[in-house]
Amino acid sequence: MNLKERIEAVEAEIAASDATSPEAVEAFRVGMLGRNGKVTALLDAFKEVPAEEKRAWGQRLNQLKNAARVRWEELKAQAETTPVDKGPEVDLTRPALTEHTGSLHPISIVRQRIVDVFARIGYTVSQGPEVEDEHHNFGALNFPPDHPARDMQDTFFVQELVSANEEQKRQDLALRTHTSSVQVRVMEGGTPPIRTISPGRVYRNEAISARAHCMFHQVEGLYVDKGVSFAELKGTLDYFAKSIFGPEVKIRLRPSYFPFTEPSAEVDMSCTICGGSGCAVCKHSGWVEIMGCGMVDPAVLTNCGIDPEVYSGFAFGMGVERVAQLIYRVPDLRLYWENDVRFLDQFTDGAFRG
Ligand code: DAH
Repeated sequence: MNLKERIEAVEAEIAASDATSPEAVEAFRVGMLGRNGKVTALLDAFKEVPAEEKRAWGQRLNQLKNAARVRWEELKAQAETTPVDKGPEVDLTRPALTEHTGSLHPISIVRQRIVDVFARIGYTVSQGPEVEDEHHNFGALNFPPDHPARDMQDTFFVQELVSANEEQKRQDLALRTHTSSVQVRVMEGGTPPIRTISPGRVYRNEAISARAHCMFHQVEGLYVDKGVSFAELKGTLDYFAKSIFGPEVKIRLRPSYFPFTEPSAEVDMSCTICGGSGCAVCKHSGWVEIMGCGMVDPAVLTNCGIDPEVYSGFAFGMGVERVAQLIYRVPDLRLYWENDVRFLDQFTDGAFRG
C-alpha cells in the first residue's frame, strides 16, 4: 500500500468509527493518535517523503490528524451525554424488603461465652459421647449400684443389639444424665495437669414443663494437678461469675453432696435480676443457684487411674439453660426447643458478648 492508500484507509476508518462508551472513545483516541496509533504512524512516515513532495503530503497528513481529533471530540461529547442505562426507576421511599438472616441459638451463644471465659485461663474443651455406658456415667463417678439416679425413673436407658440374637443385648448404655461422664474419660485418657471443660447435651427422664425438660445442656469443669485446693475452686468460680454477669456479682458456697466430690458444694450467685434485694426469680432470697462443685473424690481419681496421694482436683458442673435464663430472663425452658423464630430472633451473637 502506498502512502495515499494508507491515508485513505485510515480516513475511512475515522469516519466509520462509532464508539459510544467512554472506554471505546478512549480506545479510538489511543488507536489513532496514541504513541503507536495509526495517524501517528503516518506522521512518522512523512520523514521518508522526498523534499519536493513534503509540502503536499504535509497538508494532507495535517488534514488527517485534524479529522481524527475532530472525530474524537465528537465521539467524546456524545458519550458524555448518552445516559447510562440504569434499569427501571428505583423508588427510594418504598420500605425495604428485609432479608431474613439466621442467628445463633441463645444456648449456643451462652455456651460459647462460657467456653471463652475458661479458655482465657487455660482450660481446653473436651467432649464425650451422648450415648454413654454406666461405667462413665455412674460407676467411675462413685454412684453406688442402688443410687436413685440409676433408676429407670430418672435415666433413659438404651439397648444396643450386639448380635441378631435377642439374648445378646448390651444392657449398660444410657443417654448421659450429666457431662461429668466426660471428666472420667479425660482422666482415663490423660495425665495431670488436666484443665478442661466439657460442654454438651444431657438427658433426664423428666416430665416436660416450664421448669424441667428431658434434654438440656451442661458445662462440666475439671482441674487436676499437684496441690489443687478448694480456695482455687472458689477463686475460679468467682472469676467465672464476674466474667459472665459483671464485676458486682458475688458467689457463695453451701455444703452439699455429690457422689463424685468430697467435700461438695452448691454455688449460689447474688441475684442478677434484683441485685440481691429480693424478687420472684430468687424467691426473695437474693441468691440464685447456678451450679454444683467440689473436690474430686479420691476414689474417683483412683477409678480413673490417677494417684490421689500425688494429685488432687476440683470439678464443677452447670446448666447452660440456667445461665442463659439469668442473662436473658427466659421464663420457660420449653422456649429453647420450640424453634419459634419470634423467640430466636431476639438473640444476636455479639449483643451480649463481654
Ligand atoms: N453432675 C452434676 C449434675 O448433673 C453437676 C455437678 C456437680 C458436676 C458437682 C460436678 C460437680 O463436676 O463437682 O447435677
